[in-house]
Amino acid sequence: MTAIAADRPPDSSTATGCGIEQFHHPRPVCTGRRPTPQRERLMSGLTGRVVEFGAGDGVKLTCYPPEVREIVLVEPDPFLRATAEQMADKVPALASVVGGDPTRVALDSGSCDAVVYSLTLCCCPSLERTLAEARRILRPGGRLRFYEHVRSANPVLALTEALVSPLWSRASGGCRPSRDPVTAIEAAGFTLEHLDRFTFQHISHVLGSAVSPPS
Ligand SMILES: C[S@@+](CC[C@H](N)C(=O)[O-])C[C@H]1O[C@@H](n2cnc3c(N)ncnc32)[C@H](O)[C@@H]1O
Repeated sequence: MTAIAADRPPDSSTATGCGIEQFHHPRPVCTGRRPTPQRERLMSGLTGRVVEFGAGDGVKLTCYPPEVREIVLVEPDPFLRATAEQMADKVPALASVVGGDPTRVALDSGSCDAVVYSLTLCCCPSLERTLAEARRILRPGGRLRFYEHVRSANPVLALTEALVSPLWSRASGGCRPSRDPVTAIEAAGFTLEHLDRFTFQHISHVLGSAVSPPS
């Protein structure tokens, strides 16, 4: 088991680990130095100014297409933010890393072309307020991209997820395994553009894109 010193950011160059460090810092985001294929698909086709919430260590910065000219990474964890800042210096786009509350970011209304969530909506205390803030900062017709784990469609697994959720959430940075972010995205006024459902490491996931309302 690898120990992580408390005064430095986690080493994101390590392969997927299985030690207690995953409970202090969210699960490692890359295998070696490469982001997973799902995370690469998440950003394909994006342009302009993009905001990524719960950006983790910023390894996905390398996945943004060249048409993205500005990336704002919002990351509340100071350790992960420090690593993301190092990554931000290495990409051609104008990239900045900020802390703060994802339900209240210092960005003008309608000022962004896309918002990205990757395994983050499970951690946000209020899905409703988080998605309302995404809708506020997106321009009309802007893109919401998401890659999230979701409640299982199997009733037995779904019940198990609901039962372990309180303990799991306490042990793993607020992650709630029994959420349904797709329903919340539609309830927030977004229109689904495409949605893939798949199982990854025995857990139900979604990878999708939604469009913010015309005005
Ligand atoms: C499982 S990690 C995912 C990291 C990264 N997005 C990825 O794809 O690997 C969850 C991320 O959400 C962040 N997070 C935790 N609580 C949050 C909150 N209330 N609002 C936004 N992000 C949060 C964590 O710090 C962490 O970076």
